[in-house]
Amino acid sequence: MQPLKGLILSGGKGTRLRPITHTSAKQLVPVANKPVLFYGIEAMAEAGIEEVGIIIAPETGGEIEAAAGDGSRFGLRITYVVQDEPLGLAHAVLTAEAFLDSSPFVMYLGDNLLQGGISELVAAFREHEPDALILLTPVPDPENYGVAELEQAATGQTGRVRRLIEKPTEPATDLALVGVYMFTAGVHDAARAIAPSARGELEITDAIQHLVDSGLRVEPHIVRGWWKDTGRLEDMLEANRLILDNLVERIDGELIDSQVDGRVVIEAGARLERTRVRGPAVIGAGAVLKDCYIGPYTAIGDGCTIIAAEVEHSILLAGCEVCDLDGRMESSLLGRNVTVRRGERQPRAYRFMVGDNSDISIL
Ligand code: G1P
Repeated sequence: MQPLKGLILSGGKGTRLRPITHTSAKQLVPVANKPVLFYGIEAMAEAGIEEVGIIIAPETGGEIEAAAGDGSRFGLRITYVVQDEPLGLAHAVLTAEAFLDSSPFVMYLGDNLLQGGISELVAAFREHEPDALILLTPVPDPENYGVAELEQAATGQTGRVRRLIEKPTEPATDLALVGVYMFTAGVHDAARAIAPSARGELEITDAIQHLVDSGLRVEPHIVRGWWKDTGRLEDMLEANRLILDNLVERIDGELIDSQVDGRVVIEAGARLERTRVRGPAVIGAGAVLKDCYIGPYTAIGDGCTIIAAEVEHSILLAGCEVCDLDGRMESSLLGRNVTVRRGERQPRAYRFMVGDNSDISIL
């Protein structure tokens, strides 16, 4: 088999994460202080992929290019391909046709996180040589995804793919298509053969169905570990939890009269005074925390200042300032450089989803 290329989709509008995505690409929102997109790129590098194309949108592409660069820091080469309009995942494949050429490739949705990476899947793809390999996982809300129906199979085996439907109102199974796919070059013809869906997009789900209908071999693979599509606030927070759960403790910052329990990373240049951090949690480089409690599953971005406040189960992007909160801030997502401070009267709890550069005073 020719060497595999990688295709990461990092366009789209990120409407479900507004207002954060008014000013920043959703794929750059950090999970455990690392942009979601980087987990996908690292998974590709780990699987031995050397050439990666990243599909970008005109509005947010520059920011993505600035963050991921030429790929050398990940040990691979990145080519950027602009998709002028978000006309669907199969349209993105066609947009990248010149880059992909006749190579087989792994397609990875840039806002997805897959535990354990893709090395095992790449190995299965190489070994069985199907025309396409799709990843499936049971979910409680299949109507929000592409859904697969499989043929009956011998006990202990997974049957072949029979039918795929994008976001069906009445799903026939609970098997959702995970945002990682492996294709041979035949998918280009399939993407050209299909018509736009009701939402006006060329669906990758329909292109794969076209492969099935043409008698080509589409192999399903059921994902055993966790998988997260980080499109919504709750999913971002859950992804943050899952990644922080595997944190390896490291204290490079300065602790003054402070206490740190469990799996905690304190980056270099961070300073904690009279502060308690209960892991899993990560405190970014240069952050200053005084008289604080930071609870489990919290990621505090670089250069944040937190004074006299309690924060738990939240993601704060770089440069936020949170001061004098009386109640605890929880399950929140603050964009970059957000300021939150209180006045005289205070509620007992705070919950925020706040875009970049916001300024909140609780009076
Ligand atoms: C896309 C695919 C869908 C898949 C999902 C996984 O949906 O169209 O089949 O299940 O990604 O994240 P979208 O995020 O574009 O709605």
